This record gives sequence, C-alpha cells and structure tokens, in this order.
Amino acid sequence: MGKERKVRAYTNIALIKYWGKKDETLFLPMNSSLSLTLDSFYTETAVRFDGSLERDEFWLNDVQQEEKAVQKISRVLDLFRETAGITEPAYVTSTNFVPTAAGLASSASGLAALAGAANLASGLHLDKRTLSTYARRGSGSATRSIYGGFVEWQMGTNNDDSYAVKIDDADWDIGMVTVIVNSKEKAVSSRAGMKNTVLTSPFYPSWLESTAKDLTEIKSAIREQDFQKLGEITESNGMKMHATVLGATPPFSYWEPDSIVAMHMVRELRQQGIPCYFTMDAGPNVKVLCRLSDSQKIQSYLTTYFSPEKVIISGPGKDIEDITNEG
Ligand code: PMV
Repeated sequence: MGKERKVRAYTNIALIKYWGKKDETLFLPMNSSLSLTLDSFYTETAVRFDGSLERDEFWLNDVQQEEKAVQKISRVLDLFRETAGITEPAYVTSTNFVPTAAGLASSASGLAALAGAANLASGLHLDKRTLSTYARRGSGSATRSIYGGFVEWQMGTNNDDSYAVKIDDADWDIGMVTVIVNSKEKAVSSRAGMKNTVLTSPFYPSWLESTAKDLTEIKSAIREQDFQKLGEITESNGMKMHATVLGATPPFSYWEPDSIVAMHMVRELRQQGIPCYFTMDAGPNVKVLCRLSDSQKIQSYLTTYFSPEKVIISGPGKDIEDITNEG
C-alpha cells in the first residue's frame, strides 16, 4: 500500500472566461482564459493507492460517492496510474471548505486538489506546469487552480502545451466578494452549456475574437496594476460570455432575478465612488472584483439586501500546497 498524501487547492474565478472546447476528450479549450485564485474557497484531498481495494473509492465531505462521481475522479487517477505504472485502485477522501450556507461545489479546486494529491501519492512529482495538464483532464477550470494569484490557461494546440502559467501573485490590494444567489446544482452544466453555445450561437465567432483582445489587454492592466482597466475588461468579458449563451438554440441563461439585483447594486456602488466590477459563471452567483481594502464596505452594502452569510469576502489564494503532515 502506498503512502497517503494530502493536498489543498484553492478555487479560481475567471476574469477572461473559458467557454467552449475544441477537443472534448482532452479538454482543449477554444480560447485562452485568465483567472484570480481565491483564498476563501478550497478543497483538501487525500489519495492513497491501495491494492487491498477492488476499485477506486471516493468520499466527499464524509459521504461515500456513487458511480458517476467515482468515474469522474477515476479518469484523472488513470492518467497518473498510466504514467507511473500503478495498477492499484485509489482511496480518495475530499473535503470542500466553503463558508457555511454557501453550498458552493467547486470543480476547479476539487479536481486540482485531486491531481495534486495523486501526483505525490503516485511518486511522479510532476512540476506544476505539467500537473496543470493533468488537472485539466478533470475539469477545464482546474487547470488554473494549480497556481495562486492571476493565472492564465494558455489554450495550446495539444495535450502537452495546454497548461497554466502564473501571471502575477495578485498581492496588490485585490479581492473578490461572492454573492451566493442560489447554491443548488445548476440546471445546465458548464459542459453541456458550452457545447450547445459553440454549436449553435451565431455570436460565438465574435466572442472568440473579442476574448483574444480582452486577454491581451487584461494582461497589460495586471502589469500596470491598473485596477479600473482590470475591472472594466472583467465585467465586459463576462457579459459577452453570457450573451453568447442567450444566442444559443435553444436559448438559455444562468441568471436569476437576484443575480440582476446584485449586478445593479454593484453599479450603484460604483456611482458612490467605490470601484468594483461583477462577473458570473455557469450559475446564478455574482462575483464582485474589488480592492480588498473596499471589500467590507461592499459587503455591508450588499447585505442590505442579501443575507450576511451569502456575501463572502476572499483575498487572493495561493498555489496548491502539500498538507500531508498537517494534522
Ligand atoms: O471547467 P468547468 O466545467 O468548471 O467550466 C468553467 C466555465 C466557467 O466557469 C463559466 C468559465 C471559467 O473559465 O471558469
């Protein structure tokens, strides 16, 4: 039986969105994306390869997972087993740390933590860049969660050159306030949603064109530490992604009435002179990019409408960490 190894990975929110695959099996994206890793939402996962098991076993938040969830992690474990020449099944325990009542599941931190722990338990010890290509095969957004700070997922052209690169540590008064509008599982998964958009939305080609430009510009905003430019590009890019979704056949939307309330409140905050900008992903929650030093003021304003436990402040998160020897 191999030694158990445990890793913590933080989730990330894309400022330039990944939306669409050009290869469904390898998880090669249609465009490069860029995110901010957050310290408030993370996953801790332990992996041990164990010949006494009949098949992979997966416990999430102390609940044994069913076949479908096991298959998802087995696909990632298989990549490590193949490279390391391991044939033993794995015993995997995972805990999602999200503030109480958020109920947010995170494929980004979950699959990154799994890849990180399997990397150590298998004895492969791949470097972070290569590791990000393994995490990618579990979930596209997990590619970026290998690193902290601002991270680019360079789309590449094949399995080996589609990886994450750290752009900046984001240690310059950057934060994010997450508004939990609804913590239930989304009706249209990101996988199904992006596929439908790529195949049917007439807006999709212009989305790709404009995202390439947004990415170049946001990287210069990060270099110059120009917060206003960073925020304006973030808000615009997120809205363009959601516009492609509205243009799909059949049309769909991830927004709920309270998502619009949250976005409206962010615009009001800006009118009051507080620079902050919203973005949304494949669900109704709204994430507000801000100065960490303004985050409490923003939280106070948002909690005039939303309940306090649904408005969560994060600072920039770190790279994945080996926590095998921590308690
Ligand atoms: O890789 P997934 O299935 O978590 O999809 C991510 C899709 C978005 O969150 C909408 C965008 C992104 O880049 O994270």
